[in-house]
Amino acid sequence: MGAAGIRFFPEQASTMAARVDALYFFLLGLAGFFAVLIAGLIVYYAIKYHRRRPDEIGAPIHGGMLLEITWTVVPLLITMVLFVWGASVYQAMAHAPEETLNIYVVGKQWMWKFQHLDGQREINELHVPVGRAVKLIATSEDVIHDFFVPAFRMKADVLPGRYVTLWFHATRPGRYRLFCAEYCGTKHSGMIGEVIVMEPAEYQTWLSGGVPEGSLASAGGKLFQDLACNTCHRPDAQGRGPVLDGLFGKTVTLQSGETVTADEAYVRESILQPAAKVVQGFQPIMPTFQGLVSEEQVLELVEFVKSLAAQPQTPAARPPTVGPAPGENTPVKR
Ligand code: CUA
Repeated sequence: MGAAGIRFFPEQASTMAARVDALYFFLLGLAGFFAVLIAGLIVYYAIKYHRRRPDEIGAPIHGGMLLEITWTVVPLLITMVLFVWGASVYQAMAHAPEETLNIYVVGKQWMWKFQHLDGQREINELHVPVGRAVKLIATSEDVIHDFFVPAFRMKADVLPGRYVTLWFHATRPGRYRLFCAEYCGTKHSGMIGEVIVMEPAEYQTWLSGGVPEGSLASAGGKLFQDLACNTCHRPDAQGRGPVLDGLFGKTVTLQSGETVTADEAYVRESILQPAAKVVQGFQPIMPTFQGLVSEEQVLELVEFVKSLAAQPQTPAARPPTVGPAPGENTPVKR
């Protein structure tokens, strides 16, 4: 952030930044080229063909096939280049890599709250390691906010009532500004923060610095018992609710015969609106937990259900403790 000069552009600090900028500058250059070309031709022809005598009449012109084809085909080719290029950048932005470090984000008037899988919580500050893909699973507690980190060229609306995922891969350690980019009330302009990108070793030190609460999944496990969810969702298939062990990521068949994937959004909805998607073979008897659990607690429960995916679905083989979820959800090892 040079104090002396004006910055026209945010720094490039993610793998997407250079790609977005390349497309942007290409568009800018293209628009500039045609603006100059067209303006120049208007001036040139105005001078070249201006009326010299009061009784002068222009020569009649009856079209030109070559000209027509040229100015149809050339713009078509240019716009197809833009389409393919733009779509490939969008595709890369929209799909997170398989292996990511997952962090939950909750926006609320007027702050950003972050929850790491190991239990660290932060407000308006997000610590991440450099050189690693980070996936943010974001929701809002109240109105629409918008998560915007210019240096990463990353921006997405964060909506109440659903999870939005976005991802980035930071390439340079440093502190980068985080904004809310959707007007969300009187203190919208103050809903700002920083993403702190650290060297992996430094990040490990930060991670291990004091975690009183324990992991998100273990907090969710405790909540699961406190709310007595475990009386119906028993691991031995004798309960009145579906077995949750091994559920996450699987396909679920509903009463209606439809199938859904048990992802974060499905688990969240099933907690807050249990009647929305009842599993085949079960009755819609589960009470709603809307208003009883905060968005943070929903996240803990989701993480707990996720962690149960590591458990085998056969009741007999189920170990008694809660382990970390497999694959992409494995938290950073200390
Ligand atoms: Cu939140 Cu603007």
